[in-house]
Amino acid sequence: MTAAASGDAHRPARAAGTPRYAPPVDLAELIADPDTRIVVCCGSGGVGKTTTSAALALAAAEAGRRVVVLTIDPARRLAQSLGLGELDNEPRRVDVPGVDGELHAMMLDMKRTFDDIVVAHSTPERAEVILANPFYQTLSSSFAGTQEYMAMEKLGQLRAADTWDLIVVDTPPSRSALDFLDAPNRMSRFLDGTMIRLLTAPARAGGRAGFKFASAGLLFFSRIISKVLGGQLLRDISAFVSALDTMFGGFRERATATYELLRRPGTWFVVVATPEPDALREASYFVDRLSAEGMPLAGLVLNRTHPPASTRLSATRAEVAAESVDDGDGAPAALVAGALRVHAERMTLAMREQRLADRFTSAHPEVGIRAVPAAAGDVHDLEGLRVMAEALTGPDDDTPTGVPRTRVLPARRG
Ligand SMILES: Nc1ncnc2c1ncn2[C@@H]1O[C@H](COP(=O)(O)OP(=O)(O)OP(=O)(O)O)[C@@H](O)[C@H]1O
Ligand SMILES: [Mg+2]
Repeated sequence: MTAAASGDAHRPARAAGTPRYAPPVDLAELIADPDTRIVVCCGSGGVGKTTTSAALALAAAEAGRRVVVLTIDPARRLAQSLGLGELDNEPRRVDVPGVDGELHAMMLDMKRTFDDIVVAHSTPERAEVILANPFYQTLSSSFAGTQEYMAMEKLGQLRAADTWDLIVVDTPPSRSALDFLDAPNRMSRFLDGTMIRLLTAPARAGGRAGFKFASAGLLFFSRIISKVLGGQLLRDISAFVSALDTMFGGFRERATATYELLRRPGTWFVVVATPEPDALREASYFVDRLSAEGMPLAGLVLNRTHPPASTRLSATRAEVAAESVDDGDGAPAALVAGALRVHAERMTLAMREQRLADRFTSAHPEVGIRAVPAAAGDVHDLEGLRVMAEALTGPDDDTPTGVPRTRVLPARRG
């Protein structure tokens, strides 16, 4: 069953035929629902995943829930305002005056998370050998995919603790939103040792199939090789693999178990994109993937939109009016012409953003959209998060400009 077909209160119903406009997303209801236990914010790099996660967590705490947000590499000022001065890899309570629930926040420390797994699953002596191994140190701190893997691992730990009503998960700053879903599997296959064994003992692989496999492994490996110096490398890898082999029964099962968590009822994905072609293309791939995996999508957050203050004057009419005002004399005329041109530019930008959103809706008519206007500056304090939380969870229709929050510009009549 695909996400779109499974049907749920939070997901907008698909109208008969092809709807012209994106349906709304009720994020307020989603995060307040006691059955919602995990919300994962995904999207391509820099679109606002971390900010959206923090704002949704704040809104959930305001709705009375005990919530933890797992942030990944938050901007320093945002981290500070959440009380995350240093990495300690455990949730800390954020002091938010006037909320009914509780907001806790943490910043993922991927190396610490990895170290903790090693320590928890081996004897102290063996753990010491592994932790001191240079290959392990590279793998645990800079391997592409480690962050995604460890984010899932941490999510699994938080969920297992069962201390939280809701866990909001930010995802790593990868180019593609899909990396979050793909990397743990890739990583666990790698850690299972198949690739490593082929590399350290190519003779064992034998035959053409083995050769093909080994060269794929070598490619995969090249990133690490570039980072680890000296001829010690293969010996380090061998030592690491044999220590790992006896340590515990395979990373693959672990990754699979956490991956399954993402499919359980109570987990929802929120895809974040900015109104730009690349970000929306990535969001589109991600939506298809979730659907194929049967993972539930709450909707698309279209972040940093530029709705005009008023939509009663079109860009063209504002331009024409500016031309005619220009004919007048003096500073007031220039001022009015300037204001009209600013409005025309803003309308043009909003039209472009709406066109891009409409294109997304044509491809995914069932996916609800919540447009979040760009704030004047960065969102780096609780006040900024509150404004964003209101944009994410406020009523869909009751907006100052009258434009529903599914859109940048009002829908055309007729
Ligand atoms: N609605 C908004 N209005 C204004 N600024 C915003 C908005 N949303 C996010 N930002 C700003 O955009 C920048 C990027 O946001 P954020 O760090 O949340 O993105 P991200 O998707 O987590 O990035 P990365 O992929 O690097 O992790 C931040 O400086 C943030 O303050
Ligand atoms: Mg981020």
